[in-house]
Amino acid sequence: MKNITMKGIILAGGSGTRLYPLTLVTSKQLLPIYDKPMIYYPLSVLMLAGIKDILIISTPMDLPRFKALLGDGSTLGINLSYVSQSSPDGLAQAFILGEEFIGDNPCALILGDNIFFGDGLSRHLSNSVERAMRGEATIYTYYVNDPERFGVCEFDERGYPTNIVEKAPNPKSNYAVTGLYFYPKGVSEKAKTLVPSPRGELEITDLNNLYLRARQMHVTFLSRGYAWLDTGTHESMMDAAQFVQSIETHQGLKICCPEEISYLNGWIRKEDLERIGKTMANNEYGRHLINVASGKVKAWSKL
Ligand code: G1P
Repeated sequence: MKNITMKGIILAGGSGTRLYPLTLVTSKQLLPIYDKPMIYYPLSVLMLAGIKDILIISTPMDLPRFKALLGDGSTLGINLSYVSQSSPDGLAQAFILGEEFIGDNPCALILGDNIFFGDGLSRHLSNSVERAMRGEATIYTYYVNDPERFGVCEFDERGYPTNIVEKAPNPKSNYAVTGLYFYPKGVSEKAKTLVPSPRGELEITDLNNLYLRARQMHVTFLSRGYAWLDTGTHESMMDAAQFVQSIETHQGLKICCPEEISYLNGWIRKEDLERIGKTMANNEYGRHLINVASGKVKAWSKL
């Protein structure tokens, strides 16, 4: 029997016009969120899910910078590949661009600008991976004040999900669908059956509704103890950076540090972590890696 491997895609495309002039010459997902590039946050989430084969999709202009930052992934004990998206035709296009990469495997997708933080996330992630292996998709919802900005999940009176609507002016619930999705094998075929929406995109919401209608969709609620942070505007990016700074400084731990996650997953050795740390030993990030490697920082959880 062929080995089934959970694959992961980070979608880091888009023109980032809402962040101009910050994004005139660089990708949004390379901008800093406090002490690390934005893409480290979604990358960490996939790694926390135990996913080692990861595809990064970005624009032809930005892809070389992602490659310069992360290479083939071997420093982090993972396998990175890259595909360029010449025009941003919707999130679901990721599964068509990534068809060869995904092969006959289940696949997760995370948006390159989504930040997740909260206790128990690893457990949620491993449950999602298990479901995807068994043939069921998972989306994550989060209660927000401005649901009209997102895809929103609607529920019947018993709390069962009935429908997902994209950016409805008056959504029936406050549960936004976050940018983290898990699908069983065959997602590329399903994505190919989608037709572009009125805004000209292959909508992830349409894909999710296919799974929902087929009763192959699990909805995981991220409770109020979680942070799902937006980084799409100057203000929200600053808020996210201050959130990360505040937690990291208070605890003396790091949020979404891929080198640390890789080490705790057993994917790189102590010496590797220490070596990476020494390349930036003149700041807190580097010192944290050195302290984790030496055992000075002994925190059990990874995020
Ligand atoms: C996209 C999805 C939307 C989802 C959101 C999460 O929105 O279409 O369903 O709620 O990501 O970040 P967009 O980034 O296209 O506005």
